[in-house]
Amino acid sequence: MVRSCGQGIPAWVYVGTLLLFIHSVTVGGAALKQEVALDSGATVLNHSMSLVQRIETLLALGNSSDVTLRVQTISTDEVKVIQAHSLVLTLQSDVFEELLLNRNGSVVVLRETPDCAAVIDKFVRYLYCGDISVRLDQAISLHKLASKYHVWGLQQGLTQYMTQHLSSDSPTGHAIGWYNYALQIGDMGLRDSCLQYLSWNLSSVVQSGEWGSISEDLLLSLLKRSDLILQSELELFEALEAWISQNQPVSSTVESALRAVRYGMIPPQHLFRLQKQSLLLQKNYESIRDLLYLAFQFHSASPIQLAKYFDVNCSIFTPRNYLSTSWGSPWVINNPTRDDRSFSFQTQLGPSGYDSSKRVTWNALFSPRWLPLSARSTYTELGAMQPTRTDGGRPRIIVTPATSSSDFAGVSFQKTVIVMARQQGKVVVRHVYNFHQSTEEAGDFLVDADLQRRASEYLIDSSLYLHIVIKPLYHTLIVARK
Ligand SMILES: *[C@@H]1O[C@H](CO)[C@@H](O)[C@H](O)[C@H]1NC(C)=O
Ligand SMILES: *[C@@H]1O[C@H](CO)[C@@H](O)[C@H](O)[C@H]1NC(C)=O
Ligand SMILES: *[C@@H]1O[C@H](CO)[C@@H](O)[C@H](O)[C@H]1NC(C)=O
Ligand SMILES: *[C@@H]1O[C@H](CO)[C@@H](O)[C@H](O)[C@H]1NC(C)=O
Ligand SMILES: *[C@@H]1O[C@H](CO)[C@@H](O)[C@H](O)[C@H]1NC(C)=O
Repeated sequence: MVRSCGQGIPAWVYVGTLLLFIHSVTVGGAALKQEVALDSGATVLNHSMSLVQRIETLLALGNSSDVTLRVQTISTDEVKVIQAHSLVLTLQSDVFEELLLNRNGSVVVLRETPDCAAVIDKFVRYLYCGDISVRLDQAISLHKLASKYHVWGLQQGLTQYMTQHLSSDSPTGHAIGWYNYALQIGDMGLRDSCLQYLSWNLSSVVQSGEWGSISEDLLLSLLKRSDLILQSELELFEALEAWISQNQPVSSTVESALRAVRYGMIPPQHLFRLQKQSLLLQKNYESIRDLLYLAFQFHSASPIQLAKYFDVNCSIFTPRNYLSTSWGSPWVINNPTRDDRSFSFQTQLGPSGYDSSKRVTWNALFSPRWLPLSARSTYTELGAMQPTRTDGGRPRIIVTPATSSSDFAGVSFQKTVIVMARQQGKVVVRHVYNFHQSTEEAGDFLVDADLQRRASEYLIDSSLYLHIVIKPLYHTLIVARK
């Protein structure tokens, strides 16, 4: 049974209990309120798809068009002509409404940059159908159009699309381009997503075609960060070398960039090689001589000895999140909610060449439903309320050295657990947890992960993909002594 909503107003029919619907429709600027009572037991006849198709045909064939859009590509004589309908344009965009009010005859002239002119048909089609197919290389142009014409739903959808497709494969890469665009339009949310992607996934970014196009400011700000996730400091140095040779920046930039490399984190055998074989280092040797000297001093004896004699306070002794095996280990946990798991792995005691042959064995323990002692005792007191397998508790991971040693004096080991996830079919970093030495706990570890759910965003094929990084920090070297 179909109950009419009133004349001239499209009728929707809903199944359901008696609902009172306030249906507000704008007709010629005046809001018209309509109350629609709905019957239970009604059947929906839904032809909205074919209605959308008919509207699309209206655009495709230009029937009953009352406005011609002349799209001029800026600084060319290219012109595209689209037969459109003022009703649809006005409905979707107040900018079009304004343009139509001031139009000259039936023609509205739009001036667009070449990249926007190339996707204007797609954009106008969206105004008619409400759906759009987007490719990685079209996201910015479409976002510009959506912003220019105030089509906010599309603009938001595109921002979300970009946030979710940062890791997608593209021949030239796009994360850096999107970062620059976000910065230019002042979209801090998108900018931060791009920055996080670049910092957490630097290895694939430096291998991508767009690495060379990274701006000086972005490069220098990335080089300052300790939370970068990459294979090794050497990888970063080589990426920097490639960037400098491609961009040939002024010497002050080369110097700032080279001084941001953490030479203490590069093993001495590689430093020797770079010193002799890297043209970049040879050319700029004077500007980093002090840092190289400091790095070799660091590698030659125990860092504690070094700290006794020298006041140093600089980042070259602070590790980033390196994925290479001397710094930590991957750990894949199948069906993580099943039970507690443990795992052992070894790392090098520290980055100093002096410590390179010393190994530390680590025990990692993962509990899917760990309850703090206090919570457990209340449970026991209450007797009947024993925790069940799914009740209470939260995921916890603890990573402790298997043995202790006098070598550990003066070192604190900062632990970072990287959780991988699959995004657009790719393995990317989903979350990073840092553990403070004093507590051995990150209270929020996997707190949003919902591991019970097979489709949890934190699981890949029902497994938890972790990578544990151990970062030895010599506080005496990082904080200068009084
Ligand atoms: C009608 O069908 C479309 C797509 O087939 C669907 O998105 C929409 O929700 C349906 N409308 C109603 C009122 O069921
Ligand atoms: C649109 O116009 C063409 C001719 O210009 C006509 O053949 C066609 O039937 C029209 N379509 C509709 C849906 O009115
Ligand atoms: C309107 O268009 C005509 C010819 O297309 C042109 O001569 C005239 O200057 C235009 N008027 C305005 C206000 O742009
Ligand atoms: C970074 O992303 C690429 C592709 O998006 C992926 O192959 C790689 O595993 C990621 N790296 C890390 C450290 O997650
Ligand atoms: C060490 O350097 C950092 C960064 O350059 C600075 O914030 C900090 O105050 C310095 N510490 C001391 C004790 O000089």
